[in-house]
Amino acid sequence: LKNIDVCVLGATGIVGREYLRILSNHPYFRVRCVTGRRSVGSKLADTLDEGSDEINLPKHIGNLEILPTDPARVDADLVFSPLPTDVARKTEEEFASAGFTVVTDASPHRMDEDVPLVIPEVNPEALSLIEGQKRKRGWSGAVVATPNCTAVGIVMTLKPLADRFGVENVVGTTLQAISGAGYPGVPSFDMIDNVIPFIENEEEKVAQEANKILSAAHRIPFGITTTRVPVISGHTASLHVELARSATPEEIKEVLASFTGAPQKLRLPTAPERPIIVREEVARPQPRVDRGAGSVPGMSVVVGRVRAGMSASHVQYVVVSNNTVRGGAGGAVLTAELMVEEGIA
Ligand SMILES: NC(=O)c1ccc[n+]([C@@H]2O[C@H](COP(=O)([O-])OP(=O)(O)OC[C@H]3O[C@@H](n4cnc5c(N)ncnc54)[C@H](OP(=O)(O)O)[C@@H]3O)[C@@H](O)[C@H]2O)c1
Repeated sequence: LKNIDVCVLGATGIVGREYLRILSNHPYFRVRCVTGRRSVGSKLADTLDEGSDEINLPKHIGNLEILPTDPARVDADLVFSPLPTDVARKTEEEFASAGFTVVTDASPHRMDEDVPLVIPEVNPEALSLIEGQKRKRGWSGAVVATPNCTAVGIVMTLKPLADRFGVENVVGTTLQAISGAGYPGVPSFDMIDNVIPFIENEEEKVAQEANKILSAAHRIPFGITTTRVPVISGHTASLHVELARSATPEEIKEVLASFTGAPQKLRLPTAPERPIIVREEVARPQPRVDRGAGSVPGMSVVVGRVRAGMSASHVQYVVVSNNTVRGGAGGAVLTAELMVEEGIA
C-alpha cells in the first residue's frame, strides 16, 4: 500500500465514474476529493444515484462533498482530469502551476511538444518530457496526457507490428460507442436505428496522436473514417495495414498476442496480463462481449479476424477496445501507477 491521495476532477461524468470504480479499492491511490461544476455542494453518492449505471462506492468516497474545480480547494498528491475539452486546458494549467501533477483524459494538451502522451505499454519513455515541461513553463506541477479513446486500441496493435515488420500506412473505419461522446451525448433520436458517419476532429486526432506516440522514423499516413454506432461502450475499428515486409496472418497473431510492456514487467496493479487478446472465432471481437476482456476487465484490447490483405505485406483485422476503461480512466490510472514506480509522482 502506497497511500497516495488523489483528486478526480469532473468525477460525476462518464469517465469520472469509471475512475471512482477503479480507485475505490486501489493499492496505491486513495480518492480524497472530487470536483464538478453543476453538482458542487452535493454528496457524491447522491449525485451518482441519478445516473443510469449503478455504482457501488465505499462510504469514505460516497460521502465526499463535491468541490468546485479550483486548485485552492484541492488537497491531493495527484489529480486525474476527465474534464470537458472546453475547460480542460485552462483548468489543468492552473492545477499544474499550483504544483499538482495532472494526468488528463482530455485532448487540449495532448499534442503539446513538451507534454507526454502515454500508453504505458507503448511509450513509457515519453514520461521523461516532464522535467523539461516544468522548466519551460515554470510549473512545480506537470500535465501528462492519455490519448484519444479511439487511438488507444489502434496504436496498441500497431506498436508490435511496427517494431517487428514496420508499418507503411493504415486504412480503416471505426464504429464508436455513444459513451465516447460523454453524457448525454448524441441525441437518441439521431442515434437509434442509425450510423453517424462523422465525428468532429476524430480522424485527425487518431492520425496525429498515433504518430506522436509511435514516433516512427517516418510519419505513418492514416486513411481513417470514424463513425458513431448505437453501442453503449466499446469502440470497434476495422483496419487494413500495409507492412514494410510480408508477414503471414499466423506471424501477425503471434506478434500481437505476445506483446507486453513496462506495466507487465513491473506488475502494476491495473496492468492486464495480456494487453492484446487475439480471438480465433469468425465473429469476434464484438463490443458487447469483449469490452470487459482481460485479467483487469476492460484493460485488454481484443483483436480478431486477422487475415491477409491486398498483398503479402498487407494485413486486415478488427480491434475492440473499452473506451472508458483502457481509453479513459484505466489508461490514466495505469500511467499514474507507472509514474509512481518510476518515482515521478
Ligand atoms: N467518454 C469517453 O469514452 C472518453 C474517453 C477518453 C477521454 N474522454 C475525455 O474525457 C473528458 C470527460 O469525458 P466524459 O465522457 O466523462 O464527459 P461527461 O460525461 O460530460 O462529464 C463531464 C464532467 O465534467 C464536469 N464539468 C463540466 N463542466 C465543468 C466545468 N466547467 N468545470 C469543472 N467541471 C466540469 C461535470 O460535472 P458536473 O456534472 O458537476 O457539471 C462532469 O463530472 C473529455 O475531455 C473527453 O473528451 C472521454
